[in-house]
Amino acid sequence: MSNKINEFRRPPGPGAPVALGIDAETLKALTELRDQYGNMVCVEKPSGRLAYFINDAHEVRRILLRRHSKYRKGPGFERVKMLLGNGLIVSDDDVWRRSRTMIQPAFSRQNVHQLVDAMSQCAISLTDRWQAFAESGKTPNINVETSDFALQLILLTIFGDDYEERILAQGENPFSFLAEDSTRDLGVVMKVRQLRNFMLEIIADRRNADQSEVYDFLSMYIQATDKQGQPFNDKELLDELMTLIVAGFETSANTLAWVWYLLSGHDDVEQRLLDEIAECMPDPGSVSAENAARMTYTQQVLEEALRLYPPVWLFTRRACELDELDEFDVPPGADIYLSPYLLHRTEAYWPNPDEFDPDRFELSDKPKKDRPYFPFSLGPRRCLGEYFSFLEMKIHLALLLPKFRMMRCSDEEPELELAINLRSRDDIYLKPILRNP
Ligand code: HEM
Repeated sequence: MSNKINEFRRPPGPGAPVALGIDAETLKALTELRDQYGNMVCVEKPSGRLAYFINDAHEVRRILLRRHSKYRKGPGFERVKMLLGNGLIVSDDDVWRRSRTMIQPAFSRQNVHQLVDAMSQCAISLTDRWQAFAESGKTPNINVETSDFALQLILLTIFGDDYEERILAQGENPFSFLAEDSTRDLGVVMKVRQLRNFMLEIIADRRNADQSEVYDFLSMYIQATDKQGQPFNDKELLDELMTLIVAGFETSANTLAWVWYLLSGHDDVEQRLLDEIAECMPDPGSVSAENAARMTYTQQVLEEALRLYPPVWLFTRRACELDELDEFDVPPGADIYLSPYLLHRTEAYWPNPDEFDPDRFELSDKPKKDRPYFPFSLGPRRCLGEYFSFLEMKIHLALLLPKFRMMRCSDEEPELELAINLRSRDDIYLKPILRNP
């Protein structure tokens, strides 16, 4: 390490280098570092690069909100880049700013409300499948079920009528491997590349068609223009669509799988949800964004599931200019590690942190600012799909929970798999029981 770096005021940390990735060993290493050195830890990676692990609510907010312009996306995103090109999640600086400004209007509440019917449609098709499982006594894999639901929904909301007419018309859905194979290894990257030609054909036809009355994401992305009046070119559009597919289904799918698992062990919470659904959204005809907004307890349940199991459990950033945190300096080039998973389970902020208790999110509770909670990140790079995903998950629960109770097949708590997304190491199997056979 150069002397220049040694001049910076560094938080405490170990003398020997520490390897950090995005995996279970990293969680173990970060937990040990926090326990030994406190909420701000500095380590040197084997490459000689400095890494700061920040486990303090105030400083996390500062990095993601007020000082965000001093940071870019950090290590781990190169792998995502192989899959998503330079789409919104991985891009930085002007490329990101231009795309975010062009795409953001597609996620306005008004536009997302146009997608409520698609959300109902996907939940209803799951109802039929679960009914068959319940009647035949089969025990489905809940991870596969929620993945199918969320993938079908994101494809339907992107491609609209083309989903049925062009994608399902292929015989086998060419995107289904995304739900079946949760690894994002080279095999998946190659398959995604093959999809790009197929998507290009749809894009070309759409560019030549009248889009004025079409409200799917593809049409909105095609019509979006930057400050110079320029639309996305084909490469940019493909990167943004792949980003939307991958960002939009895996996170919601994992969250729903955890919600079903948690409800299968908490009858009291389940009953309160059923009461609220009976009042706000008792049947498919009452599905609407207005009624979803009244489902405040369901919102709390979802927030609590995301506290315990934040799909994006570790964020990384890389400092592009000097920053100051508390009494320490962050030199340019240093990596930052922030973990919603660890902060969401820190006793000092969340009493009995491992307990599932949706009442923590009651509106009357103390201001949220004091408690580190950032499953969707914070600041300008905050998730664009947050509102979409709460609406999707509420409609999913409203249409399925009154029909099915889920029964656990094992008393063992699922072990976690900590890759780019947090999920259970082994898939979870739950048995659907019809409430009114
Ligand atoms: C429970 C569901 C979800 C969770 C927990 C979640 C979480 C996140 C997080 C943590 C980020 C920021 C990552 C970082 O800065 O390193 C992010 C970004 C993003 N998410 Fe989500 N997400 C969810 C659902 C969705 C959905 C349904 C969509 C689209 C329909 C979506 C689209 C995006 C996009 C486009 C970005 C990039 C934003 C930017 O960098 O400007 N997400 N999400």
